[in-house]
Order: sequence, then C-alpha cells, then structure tokens
Amino acid sequence: MTGEVTTMYEPQTAPRPAYATGFTTLDSELELDSLPLQGSIPEWLNGTLVRNGPAKFEVGEQPLRHWFDGLAMLHKFSFGGGRVSYANRFLRSNAYREAERGRITYSEFATDPCRSLFKRAATLFRPTPTDNCNVNLTRLGDEYVAMTELPLPIAFDPETLDTIGVAFTAPGQHATAHPHHDPQRGELIAYVTHFGPRSEYRIFAQRDRTHQRRIASARVKEPSYMHSFALAERYAILVAFPLVVNPLRLATGARPFIENYEWKPEQGTLVLVFDREEGRLRSQHTAKPCFSFHHVNAFERDSELVIDMAAYDDASIIDSLYMDRVRSAPPSSHPRLLRYRVPLEGSDVGEEILSETYLELPRIDYTQRNGRPYRYVWGVGAHPDGDAPDFVDQLVKIDVESGETLSWFEPGCYPGEPVFVPSPKPDRAEDDGVLLSVVLDGRDARSYLLVLRADSLEELGRAGVPHHIPFGFHGQYFS
Ligand code: CO
Repeated sequence: MTGEVTTMYEPQTAPRPAYATGFTTLDSELELDSLPLQGSIPEWLNGTLVRNGPAKFEVGEQPLRHWFDGLAMLHKFSFGGGRVSYANRFLRSNAYREAERGRITYSEFATDPCRSLFKRAATLFRPTPTDNCNVNLTRLGDEYVAMTELPLPIAFDPETLDTIGVAFTAPGQHATAHPHHDPQRGELIAYVTHFGPRSEYRIFAQRDRTHQRRIASARVKEPSYMHSFALAERYAILVAFPLVVNPLRLATGARPFIENYEWKPEQGTLVLVFDREEGRLRSQHTAKPCFSFHHVNAFERDSELVIDMAAYDDASIIDSLYMDRVRSAPPSSHPRLLRYRVPLEGSDVGEEILSETYLELPRIDYTQRNGRPYRYVWGVGAHPDGDAPDFVDQLVKIDVESGETLSWFEPGCYPGEPVFVPSPKPDRAEDDGVLLSVVLDGRDARSYLLVLRADSLEELGRAGVPHHIPFGFHGQYFS
C-alpha cells in the first residue's frame, strides 16, 4: 500500500515509547502451574483462555516488516479453584520451522522472502502463502484451530499447545480469521476471496475437517481487503471497503501481499447482503468510504439490517503498523463505533457514529447476542491522559443504546482485547460476567492477565507473567 517504508533494519537507538516493548520478540516458552495473583477471581471461572498473536519479529538479521507478520505464539491461561496457570508456545508452522533455520520462505502480509535472482522467477508466479496463523483461533468440531488470513488454518492441542497440522483449506486465497459460529447447524461460517480471471467472494460453511459447503458467492472485479464480516440470523454481510486490488497485480507478485492494494475512496464502501437460506447475493448498497478491521455485530430490526463496526476514516492504519513506524511513533488513526442501517427493501444506507470513543478489538456477549439486538460492546481504547491520543492504553465498555461509556485505565499499562466470559447465572444480564485482558505493564516490561467485572469494569484481580507478552490480536475462552 505504501512505497515509503524502508526495508533496512535499523536498530533502536533513540528512546522508544514505553509501549514499544509490546512490539519486541519473546523467545522463551514456559509452563507455570500457578501465577502470583493479586485480588481474586470468581470461583465459577473454570476454563481456559487461549490467545494468539505475533511474538517473533525477525528471522536472523532479517526483520519481519509489519506487526501482522510476526510469528504466531499461543498463550494459555487456565483457571480453576481461584488459581491461574500459564503456558506459551510458538505455533510450529512451516513458516516457523523455516525461520528456525534462519530463512523467510513464505510470503507474509507485508514481508516477502528475500528472493535471489535465481529464485525470483519461481516465486513471482507461485508465491507460497504463509501458514503463520497468528491472528485468531476457534473450535472446529472437536478440534482447535489457529487462523490467519491465508486459507490454511492449523490445528493445535489445547492442553499442550502442540501443533497438529493444517486442518482444512478454504476455497480461495484470502480468508478471514474471524469466522462466525452457527450454533443451530454446528458450523463455522466464513468467507474467502477467490482471485482469478473471475474473482469472487465466497461464503462457505465448515463443520469439521472434511465437511465444507458453499453457501453463496458474488463476482467482483477488484476484491476488497476485508478482515472480518457480519452474520445476522438470516444474512451474511460483507462490507467491502474501497481498499481494493487488481488480481493481476497479486498474480505477478512483485510486492508483498497488502502493498498491492490501492485506496480508491471514490468507489465508496459496498455493502453486500447475502441471504443464507436462499444461497444468493440479495442486495448491494453503497456507503461513504471508510475502513474497518472488525465488525461488532449485525441484526435485523424493523425491515432493516443494523450493522455495527469499529471504523476508521481511511485505511492508513495499516501503514502505521509497520514495525519501524509503530516502534517509534504511535498511530494517529481513531476508530469509532459506526452503525449502518441498511433497508431490506430499498437502497439508501443510513450511517451514524454511535460513540466518539476510540474502539478497537471489539467483543460482545457473542453466544447470546451475535446476530441479535444487543446493548454492550467492550474493546480497547485510548485514554486522553495516556502517552498518545490514539495509542491503545485503556479498556472501554460502550452502551450502544445510550452511548454511555465506562473505562479502565492505569498509567503506563497497555491492555489487549478484552474477552467477555458470561457468568453461569441463569437469566443473567447481558453484561454479567468478567473480562479477561492481557496487559503489558510498560514500567517493568512484564505482562499480566487482568480480570475485570464486565458490568462496571472494576478490577477483580490480576495474575503476573514473568515476561512481556508481545501485543497480540485475538483470544477465545473455552469452558
Ligand atoms: Co481481527
């Protein structure tokens, strides 16, 4: 996307922002039966939080250029009897094994293998996509899989964090690491972009390793870069931002993956509504240009679709997350909760910012509320008194009906995605439960697992980890 970024590795000599530790490599792999705990955690919390994210940012002398390129590490926090145990392991992907030999062999999001002249021709026409599944994870049938945006999720053992191997292949080349769950059918629903002379978006369902079914597809000339999508009870919704690629540019592979995409705001943002029951693209709508990584929720109400996202004005956030840039200066983009109202009969999209509060890595009460009306979203935010106006250093809760916002903030600390775990109480309130967030304490360069009440964001307890955990992306709780 940018031509300005240097590829030379420059050792950090200037003073770095306090958060920069979160963008440095963690080499050690540990297994600890019990972490030191301050405060207390609820007795009912008896399960495991597994988180995914990049943890190694250079291979030999060669840097991985972008935060999204770091080699995947899984972190596991298990809860039981008021105690917390911890383990972490790199995912043994092919990309990782090659890195252990000092080689970057696979094309990452923004890093390509160093091509010798001899190898160049081969990789130009057959770029080998990475299996570095560093973004998210989920349960698939009886298995657990780690995912990135390439179509090769990798199964792992949730007890040992051992890598098992590729679980299935999505029917395209650019996938999402944010599949949805369809509890009725016991399937994961996802989309993938197939690039070719006739490129298309494909919505598909995956029940286990072997059972895959196509739900619907739509032709597209210049596919959009989309990181997630929305699933309402009857509809799957793709919001195609005007960050688009000519598939021919990708095929010739002269640049790393994301740098082939172009920002074309004049196209606007396209909203594609797929009818899951009829298996077809139902309607297409145009909204103002914007960019988002993360959908929050979508649901049908009064003959319209309500679609909520954490949205940016443009896609410059991707450029600000190149390692050499983000290690020296915080990004200046400010994502906000954007709501679309899309008529089921008609075309005009209503657009409204529900809250000016910084919101990223949004989570909701997924099992009860995804695809349905909901009231609360939790996420990471940026505190006005923090290091930088737009660097993530707080947790927020937004009431999407009233706009009321609560936050948790501690100076010098940088929390990650807050995972909501509902309390086991029958007929509980939507926000009755806890939030689990891995926080980097910039003051002593170590991380801790923070447990908050999800309703008030009051701290219940924290469990200290003896090293820093590099900033990660997503995690899931399994009870
Ligand atoms: Co994501």
